[in-house]
Amino acid sequence: MLLYNLQMLVSALCVQMFGHRCGFLIGVHDEFLDALEIISVESSRLQNTVSPAVAKRYNLPVWSRLANANTIALEKARDLVEQELSIAQDRISTGLVESTAIVDNLIISKDLNHETIVRHIIDLLMAAADTTAHTLAWCLYLIGQHKDAQQKARKELLAATGNEVANLSASSLAAVPYIKGMLKEGIRMYPVATFILRALSQETVLGRYHTPAGTVVSLSVYSTGRDSRFFSDAENFIPERWLRHQSSAALTCPKQSTGKHHSHAFLPFGIGARSCIGRRLAETQLQVFLAQLLATCQVSTLQPTHMKMRMVSIPADPIQIAIQQYND
Ligand code: HEM
Repeated sequence: MLLYNLQMLVSALCVQMFGHRCGFLIGVHDEFLDALEIISVESSRLQNTVSPAVAKRYNLPVWSRLANANTIALEKARDLVEQELSIAQDRISTGLVESTAIVDNLIISKDLNHETIVRHIIDLLMAAADTTAHTLAWCLYLIGQHKDAQQKARKELLAATGNEVANLSASSLAAVPYIKGMLKEGIRMYPVATFILRALSQETVLGRYHTPAGTVVSLSVYSTGRDSRFFSDAENFIPERWLRHQSSAALTCPKQSTGKHHSHAFLPFGIGARSCIGRRLAETQLQVFLAQLLATCQVSTLQPTHMKMRMVSIPADPIQIAIQQYND
């Protein structure tokens, strides 16, 4: 399921960036995706064994596997981006008037030089893949355990789209907040980036701790998401907690003692100038996917699993779900 997830989500990203899927769905770029998977596995091995500096110095096997996968991923991503930029350049020189592809607009605007565009897009390709794919896998894992929630989502979807879910628009997405609630619950309970790191730029008092400048501070997104001070009934999947105007929401939304929402209790995409640049894209992709799936199919989770840490949090055993189409 993960490889398919990766293919699907990266190909959707390519549509935004290059205006087409670039063959990700038919396996053309599996070598790139496989290299990303190896980077994820080997970097977590490295975290759990020796320091990267030692591994590099003695060129330990774990280091050479990681470095090799990194080289392959960067080379494959660069080949793809260079090829797409050259196609875009041709499109533009033959009189392209209007385009929604990000690369076309970057080339036309002339704000960035060629190499900078290439590097930014490689960065996006590398950052987008496993974060969104694993988030989707975790959401399906949870949703598959809650048939009642699926029914609510389906009812809301069919009402908002007049049974035409294939033509889901931005405005009909806004009319299905329950799907967004499901997504937020999935990310709250299984955040793929379980913590955020910051090096303090100045001496700071954090709670009872006096912390010198330069200290690296880790904020656990996983712990705050599961903390009953911020989320009542925190161990349970309750999409309603994210809905406005719901009487149950007051009980379950992240809140301070004042009763106002505590926005910093939910930071799965980070915060501030270095927060996730792909947040809106990922959220939209995931909402559209869930909406189209849940309108037509029932999802059932076949066996329990738990989180294990890699570069992002992944299931300890492959997530197994059954997807069955409704007959009505
Ligand atoms: C559900 C999916 C995703 C999650 C949970 C996620 C989460 C995160 C987090 C926690 C950070 C660090 C933020 C911080 O330190 O404050 C981050 C950074 C970043 N993300 Fe995402 N991300 C997701 C999808 C994406 C996608 C689809 C893209 C690209 C299209 C992307 C591109 C980036 C980039 C480039 C950065 C580095 C930003 C910087 O350092 O300035 N992410 N992401």
